[in-house]
Amino acid sequence: MSSNKENWGSRVGLILAMAGNAVGLGNFLRFPVQAIQNGGGAFIVPYLVCFLLMGIPLLWIEWSMGRFGGKKGDHSTPFILNTMDKRSFWKYIGVFGIFTNIAVAAYYCYIESWTLSYMYHSVVGSFGGKSPDEVAGFFGSYISLTTIEPIVFWIVCLVLNTWILSKGLSGGVEKVAKIGMPLLILFGILLAIKGITLKAGVDGAIYDGTLGLNYLWTPDFSTIWSPKVWLAAAGQIFFTLSVGMGSIQCYASYVKPKDDIALNAMSAGWMNEFVEVVLGSAIIIPISIGYLGIDKVVELTQSGGLGLGFKTLPYLFQQWGPVLAALAGVMWFGLLFFAGITSSLAMGTPYMGFLQDEFNWTREKSAITFGLLVFAFGLPTVLFFNEGVFDEYDYWAGTVSLVVFALAEVILFAWVFGIDKGWAEINEGSDIKTPVIYKFIIKYITPLFLGFVFFGSLPDIWAKLSAEASIYVHLSRLLLVVLFAGISYLVYVAYKKRVAEGRI
Ligand code: ALA
Repeated sequence: MSSNKENWGSRVGLILAMAGNAVGLGNFLRFPVQAIQNGGGAFIVPYLVCFLLMGIPLLWIEWSMGRFGGKKGDHSTPFILNTMDKRSFWKYIGVFGIFTNIAVAAYYCYIESWTLSYMYHSVVGSFGGKSPDEVAGFFGSYISLTTIEPIVFWIVCLVLNTWILSKGLSGGVEKVAKIGMPLLILFGILLAIKGITLKAGVDGAIYDGTLGLNYLWTPDFSTIWSPKVWLAAAGQIFFTLSVGMGSIQCYASYVKPKDDIALNAMSAGWMNEFVEVVLGSAIIIPISIGYLGIDKVVELTQSGGLGLGFKTLPYLFQQWGPVLAALAGVMWFGLLFFAGITSSLAMGTPYMGFLQDEFNWTREKSAITFGLLVFAFGLPTVLFFNEGVFDEYDYWAGTVSLVVFALAEVILFAWVFGIDKGWAEINEGSDIKTPVIYKFIIKYITPLFLGFVFFGSLPDIWAKLSAEASIYVHLSRLLLVVLFAGISYLVYVAYKKRVAEGRI
């Protein structure tokens, strides 16, 4: 008998936790950079199409898979998938739904910890009176570990995540989401107002903030046929909605059997899109373009995504005077922290659900071992950040795995489990009338679209694998393989245990 007695305290709490799972660092750091790198207005059309044709279908698919598995007492993807189809290999495909979360958490929690440190430095005025190069240099020495500080903040952040996870869904995750999400939205709105109303000639700005918004929101169809832009848009949709990860299925598996999922999925999904396209685009882009101009910002984003948020914004905030700079720093890094932690908590739950279901582990024991795993697999990303370990994890776990797993689950849902049963699952207990066109989209368009994204990525994957790589890169790939193999082994043991207990 499983020791897993988790449940959600309220519908609002569930929606906020699910929205918190989606709203993350991706909304505020990744989205603006992807948009700028891919031509601003040229990015937004493919992005919205990907949301409608892949994002929404996958949200419904994953929510209903989760609730379906939950009815049978399964709270992680290996046995949720295996409940939908008895063939043995599905549970090993389901390993992705635990693996991705641990591997992403391993590098994600490190960025999350930077936000704590940067909040502290904004309050004590560490960026005051510094030149742009000095503020950028601060970040450079931070990630080069010239002091012990980054490690201390990282460990604090891991302990915090572990502690909250050990309090459970309603006692921990839901409470953080109920406090974090409203604060994040409030901070986001205040900063967005400042970004949009930035005036050329005031506080050192060279252009109006609206220049940046026009850059993003003036549709440009010239690159509409570029596969690169479509792949970037699809990748962003996956990452931001947390689809293809396994965490949505886990959260949804704790929904009661007859409770709505169709409207809940839309509420959380659209809340994420509001935060991403409205708030996420109205802070970094207008503020940095207002001060630096489009060309300079495009140039800055070419050298990686994190630069603007950590190297440039703290300097630009200083132009508003010391008090407002401190306040803006606390709001900006505070919103990043809440965005980050509500997502990293979600990454802990599939692994915990699996151990509670299969091996009767307590919540505390599963939370602590999750913290230790993230520490062990995250340590190389912290120690060898500059050697590319972080980027390697992000590429394989945060990008490729999501597409592979999403493609497998849409095939399972629409073609193996069957679209008729699947559609009935989505609509069971629904508080909205789901547009019937989506039955067609889920069966044909989403798998085709995902196939296009997957096959379109193959040349890039191949180029990456065949390129010269450092020993650090090889070792990080090996670590990811070890993680995947380790989870697969646990799934095998759990399967044998189920057979021995007559549960299969
Ligand atoms: N969905 C999370 C984010 O956007 C992972 O950061």
